[in-house]
Amino acid sequence: MNMAGQPVLVTEGNFTTPLAFPTITGANTTLTAQNVSSNINGFGIISSLGYSANGMLGPTIKINSGSSVNINLVNHLNEKTNIHWHGLKIPSNMDGHPENSIDAGGSFNYNFTVNQRAGMYWYHPHAEMLTGKQVFKGLAGLFIVNDTEENSLNLPSGNREIPLVIQDKRISLGSIPYSPTMMEVMTGLMGQYIFVNGVYAPYQNVETAKYRVRILNGSNARIYNLALSNGSPFTIIGNDGGLLASPHSVNNLIVAPGERVDLIIDFSTLSINSELYLISKTFNGGDAQGTQEFKLIKFKITNQVTDNFNIPASLSSINQLTEGMATISRNFDIQNSSMNMSGNAMTHTINNKSFDINRIDELINNGAIEIWTFDNTNGKEPHPMHLHGVQFQVLSRTGGRAALMSNESGWKDMVLCMPGEKVKIIIPFNSYSGKFLFHCHNLEHEDNGMMGQYKVN
Ligand code: C2O
Ligand code: CU
Ligand code: CU
Repeated sequence: MNMAGQPVLVTEGNFTTPLAFPTITGANTTLTAQNVSSNINGFGIISSLGYSANGMLGPTIKINSGSSVNINLVNHLNEKTNIHWHGLKIPSNMDGHPENSIDAGGSFNYNFTVNQRAGMYWYHPHAEMLTGKQVFKGLAGLFIVNDTEENSLNLPSGNREIPLVIQDKRISLGSIPYSPTMMEVMTGLMGQYIFVNGVYAPYQNVETAKYRVRILNGSNARIYNLALSNGSPFTIIGNDGGLLASPHSVNNLIVAPGERVDLIIDFSTLSINSELYLISKTFNGGDAQGTQEFKLIKFKITNQVTDNFNIPASLSSINQLTEGMATISRNFDIQNSSMNMSGNAMTHTINNKSFDINRIDELINNGAIEIWTFDNTNGKEPHPMHLHGVQFQVLSRTGGRAALMSNESGWKDMVLCMPGEKVKIIIPFNSYSGKFLFHCHNLEHEDNGMMGQYKVN
């Protein structure tokens, strides 16, 4: 059997529907996971999942660091669900572990205090073997934390701050179908339609100014290589864990599922009525990814203004960890994915083990600084690796791209390991004791067993 895996080619829309933005809500709210209807340009009314009656996705939760959060999740689905607060350092019983899932018809009160840097985090379901399905059908939302360090920079805000949740979807018979074949479990499920904030092929009007564009790749498996259609560079100011120490100008940027990037895009030199697309360029991503260039969203320049914002040369102070600070090193073999003997099931493993909710894979001392190495040297698939409960730094990458990328300084909770790569990260386990997950954020890989548990004592 050919194990290569096939790309799912993107079908571009006409970019005639205005971009939508999730409503913004504070630290006290109710999220109701439910079936919703959305009017999708070119497809009519389709049914999907959302956290409010408004449609797909959920509200953007916006709080200041130090705030207490009180969110009631009501489960109006006909199966279990829960919420994981991706990137937040919170107690393990609030983190959306699959053992804390809520049955259909039930509810749960998420109660925690957010004590961490400003950044764009996000939330999504994490019930065992249901994460991929529920996210793909529309359950996800942004969780934005502000702090005084970030406020003091006076970054573009209001209508000059644009959050974008980029996701690929399938649409068939009025709904978003989810039933990956064995081959789609191998590659991860990809859709042919790119949605931004729940809108297929949208456009956004902008002025001749610098905008802060904050992007989540909320796709199950698809990786994007972000670029502007006119070839202009853009500036990266932040990533998963908040602001970088200093801005970096780049021409393109690879963003894997679960990763966030915080960009400044400068529209100030463009003429009125011109158009610019955010696109995904081709890249080297194994057999199933990066083979095609396609458009994500159109920006229309509609208004001439004078903009005095300059990107600060220094953004944030980052306490840089070095290899010598770590006391423990662990190796994770992520290069094995295989079909069983009868050829009818895929397995994705970490250190040759499939997820077992009754097994603790790694025991960690509270306060320890550790180095974890993800080894995809002989792997054929990209694996975006994620740890719950911590933020880490990326130390090195050998093989494959053989370098750190421009979004890999500062703090992160995701790191992309392309085929051939070995990536080393350094993690301070200094938040909470308890049991947390680590896994591949290709959600089909995750649901297929590419997940483990660590316990901090
Ligand atoms: Cu977005 Cu277990 O993660
Ligand atoms: Cu997470
Ligand atoms: Cu994977």
